[in-house]
Amino acid sequence: MAMAANSSIPMIVSFELQPPVKKVGGSRMLAFKRTKAGFRSKVVVSSYSNNKRILLVGEADFSFSLSLATSFESAENMVPTTIDSYDDAIVKHNKAQGNIELLKQLGAQVFHGVDATKMAANLSLPRRMYDRIIFNFPHAGYCGEYEAHPDMIMSHQRLVRGFLDNAIKMLHPYTGEIHLRHRTQYPFNKWEIIKIAYQCGLVLIDSRDFNIGDYPGYQNKRGAGSKPDKPFPLESSKTFKFFPLGNSL
Ligand SMILES: C[S@@+](CC[C@H](N)C(=O)[O-])C[C@H]1O[C@@H](n2cnc3c(N)ncnc32)[C@H](O)[C@@H]1O
Repeated sequence: MAMAANSSIPMIVSFELQPPVKKVGGSRMLAFKRTKAGFRSKVVVSSYSNNKRILLVGEADFSFSLSLATSFESAENMVPTTIDSYDDAIVKHNKAQGNIELLKQLGAQVFHGVDATKMAANLSLPRRMYDRIIFNFPHAGYCGEYEAHPDMIMSHQRLVRGFLDNAIKMLHPYTGEIHLRHRTQYPFNKWEIIKIAYQCGLVLIDSRDFNIGDYPGYQNKRGAGSKPDKPFPLESSKTFKFFPLGNSL
């Protein structure tokens, strides 16, 4: 069993069987969409495919969800959510309204007011075991302190812990993975997300550099503060993939 860098926390190294892929517009995709018989065949975009149930939380303008759905040519397998109300989302984010409309046209069930730290008890969400639960760049917002202040770090850690505690209850018990994207330079490395995940019963199975070009159309957003529609720097960002610890023993 490998160890996560600088840590005594075990890391499971997974080998996913990947069918041959071809490159389309910078993102890795497997052909193709609909067969003559009308069946949808498997489409793979980076780590995601249209035959997996995907729950997305903490979306801002829904551009990440729409990027996947556009490549899949369907969002029927996706449940994109935000903590914002519909009205807040479209006021904060220029493209949110259009992106939500397109997602719905592609078959997504879009949910507002979904708190990632309480979502397992949210009865309006579809009662399913998800194959992938994704939170891109969780951030608890700004409380007047600078990013490296211990109170800020604790509030981000509460968010991450709350999200993971809830996500694990909604995950497919054998095949489910939680994907969390995060900046890894100081002070974001102080969040210690791998340690929090381990305490929540999750083990790191993969961490790799995040390449925004893999998700055409995705625009990362601050989501809070005076300029919620502005992006933030993505240098040193990674995708962390977690898997329930019990499944690896
Ligand atoms: C840095 S932004 C990233 C937004 C988006 N995921 C992206 O990649 O562009 C952090 C997001 O976390 C969301 N957030 C904060 N607390 C949350 C919670 N308890 N549940 C769900 N989302 C939350 C905020 O609304 C904000 O949109």
